[in-house]
Amino acid sequence: MMIDRRSFLGSAAACIAIPNAGHSASNLLRAAPGTQQIAPDRFDPTDLWVFDGAMPGRSLRARQGDRLSITVENALPDPTSVHWHGLRIDNAMDGVPGLTQEAIAPGDRFDYDFALPDAGTYWYHSHAQSVQQVERGLYGPLIVEEAEGAPDIDQDLTLMLDDIRLTETAQVSDDFGNFHDNSHAGRFGNVWLVNGQMEPKYAVQRGQRLRLRLISAANARVFQLGLSGMSGHLVALDGMPLSEPALIQDTFSLAPAQRADLIVDVTTDEAEAFLISFERDGGYAMASFPVSGAKQALRPPPAALPANPDFPIDLKSARTATLLMEGGAMGGMRSARLNGTQLDIRDLAQRGKFWAFNGTVGDMKAYGRDTPLIDVAQGESVRIGLANDTAFAHAMHLHGMHFSEVLADGSLGPLRDTLLMQRGETREIAFNAHNPGDWLFHCHILGHHASGMGTWLRVT
Ligand code: C2O
Ligand code: CU
Repeated sequence: MMIDRRSFLGSAAACIAIPNAGHSASNLLRAAPGTQQIAPDRFDPTDLWVFDGAMPGRSLRARQGDRLSITVENALPDPTSVHWHGLRIDNAMDGVPGLTQEAIAPGDRFDYDFALPDAGTYWYHSHAQSVQQVERGLYGPLIVEEAEGAPDIDQDLTLMLDDIRLTETAQVSDDFGNFHDNSHAGRFGNVWLVNGQMEPKYAVQRGQRLRLRLISAANARVFQLGLSGMSGHLVALDGMPLSEPALIQDTFSLAPAQRADLIVDVTTDEAEAFLISFERDGGYAMASFPVSGAKQALRPPPAALPANPDFPIDLKSARTATLLMEGGAMGGMRSARLNGTQLDIRDLAQRGKFWAFNGTVGDMKAYGRDTPLIDVAQGESVRIGLANDTAFAHAMHLHGMHFSEVLADGSLGPLRDTLLMQRGETREIAFNAHNPGDWLFHCHILGHHASGMGTWLRVT
């Protein structure tokens, strides 16, 4: 595996403590402006908006079956809210302004309190003006440990991946949601981060078995990732265990909001192992793992993680819907409906809207007043056919329930909460509508959501 060492030996790694070590000590989570040394020391610290003083925010860790009670205090100048991404959560706690709650005004608080039925790797983030607020740093990991049957590992490392767009003075570029980003592939950063740091280092021992919990908090970038000096298995996607661990043989992609849990062994004879991102400079070490210790015998492959509660999908009796994804630069969309009015693309663009689902522009203020994509009874199975008739990729995220892809041979793929759709693709997802409420279904490329790629569905 080729990596370009110059690209990461050139700058000194920022020396700050790993911000998300430790257990949650308090149930207050404070969203406020803060600063962090992201760029090398010759630059000023970067002004951010953060939870509990750091980006990522404090790692929330709990056990499957516990409840989490978190009071969010908004000390920002703008309204905010917190979405607990990937949890099969009570609808009223889902954190979507305009659909499940009012945004939390500056100076106000909101009490979140919810059960944790599933073990796995999740995350929390602002769901208000997220194209700006997530970029400024309002996100953090949420780890739910297995109630029983936790894997036998030596280190459990959460690695939150991001790319942030900084100016020459290392400040967050304030061109959030500009027309070009929103109508094309979204906002890409120019500085690559793991746990809020450039090129952090995590010390490991030769022969150690690591659980790597990868979480993408990127606005838009699809990371192409690979490992060097470590080998092992993919054991969970979007928090949900795979029924069989899959050997990692090649690179794998991580779209915005997706998670991948890996169980890997440190196998290298070299002094360092790496997490490499392949869409930059042909190979960029986003994080490195200094290795010490003597060579160890190979261990047998890991067992599957214990399954989370299952909600079986019945494809034959399922209710069906289709979702045509349209719009964007180089797309064929001529007009679409916005809040009940048919507008041509020029008028839509003037209102900052570029995308539509089934001819309707998703508008966050209209959620809950518009008709849902589909209205089903609790426990019914649902199939949604998705057609990406745009020139860009999209990361479609369903709130409140995980889905499986219906594969070409009619079988069901692994449970996920976010599906990467390449341009031109047609795919189908299915799920058991076990969780009552109004659930958002949107593109997690945050500028796409802000400019029209959102709808919702109702489970009663
Ligand atoms: Cu991760 Cu609707 O969000
Ligand atoms: Cu999109």
